[in-house]
Amino acid sequence: MSHVLDEIELEGIELDLFVEAMRRRHGYDFSQYAPASLLRRARLLAERHGGGSISALIHRLLHEPELLPQLLEGLSVPASDMFRDPSVFHALREQVLPMLASHPQINIWQAGCAHGEEVYSLAILLEEAGLYERSQIFATDLSTRALERAHEGIYPLRSAQQWSRNYVAAGGLHSFSNYCSARYGLLKLDRRLRRNVTFAQHNLTADEMFCEAQLVLCRNVLIYFTNPLQQRCLALFRDSLVRDGFLCLGLRERPGAAAAEADFAPVDANLRIYRRGAAMSGRRL
Ligand SMILES: C[S@@+](CC[C@H](N)C(=O)[O-])C[C@H]1O[C@@H](n2cnc3c(N)ncnc32)[C@H](O)[C@@H]1O
Repeated sequence: MSHVLDEIELEGIELDLFVEAMRRRHGYDFSQYAPASLLRRARLLAERHGGGSISALIHRLLHEPELLPQLLEGLSVPASDMFRDPSVFHALREQVLPMLASHPQINIWQAGCAHGEEVYSLAILLEEAGLYERSQIFATDLSTRALERAHEGIYPLRSAQQWSRNYVAAGGLHSFSNYCSARYGLLKLDRRLRRNVTFAQHNLTADEMFCEAQLVLCRNVLIYFTNPLQQRCLALFRDSLVRDGFLCLGLRERPGAAAAEADFAPVDANLRIYRRGAAMSGRRL
């Protein structure tokens, strides 16, 4: 005999069905995302595309495949900033890039690149360090719509002042305006910053390693995942890094003790910059 369920329990069932429908209809698995933030985003999507009902959203998800890019975008919070947490970019400039300078070719994987703000910040750092010509940045994200925006490199002009301040705090050598132009209320980043950037879809829940890299950045992405998925990602990053390669996570992220101690040595633990240990190649988390 069924018992009476309250609204919250019913919504929990709807969320589970939504995740299942996403997986079976489109092959994207959100079952290991942190449930509270996933629910928040499913509710927002339901407001936008389901008249406020997750069940109605599921119906559209199943029957209107063209809705998928909007669903992925809505589920994945593509919020970012240029030189976000400037002290991290300052440390990359001072401590990491000089170590990368000895490599004839520098590969950087930026996982979860959102609208590209971090990618262009990195390109500027590399340019100012004289390393950009021999660098390749692979910028990946789950959301194809976010990747399209990232490729365009066009942002609201209102961000310019903050980003300029961030650039200075990150140790910028020139003026931020050297790298962009302002027109019609928009800030357009210089196209030459994109010349060594490859944008591609990559799903951290399912896809394998993307490239062999000297530096992997994945900031403010793992916070949305449950622990087993975080561990999967850290194993992926470790396997993608050359020996002694660098990993940079977001300030609110803590790699599990296993990852921190066994696979990565801290370069600056407060800034979440680590270095892959030389001794543990092949070791699993
Ligand atoms: C909050 S943004 C972080 C942007 C940038 N890294 C930063 O720190 O400013 C999180 C990004 O992770 C991406 N993301 C979420 N789940 C993902 C997955 N399974 N695989 C790849 N990217 C994912 C989202 O699409 C979003 O663009």
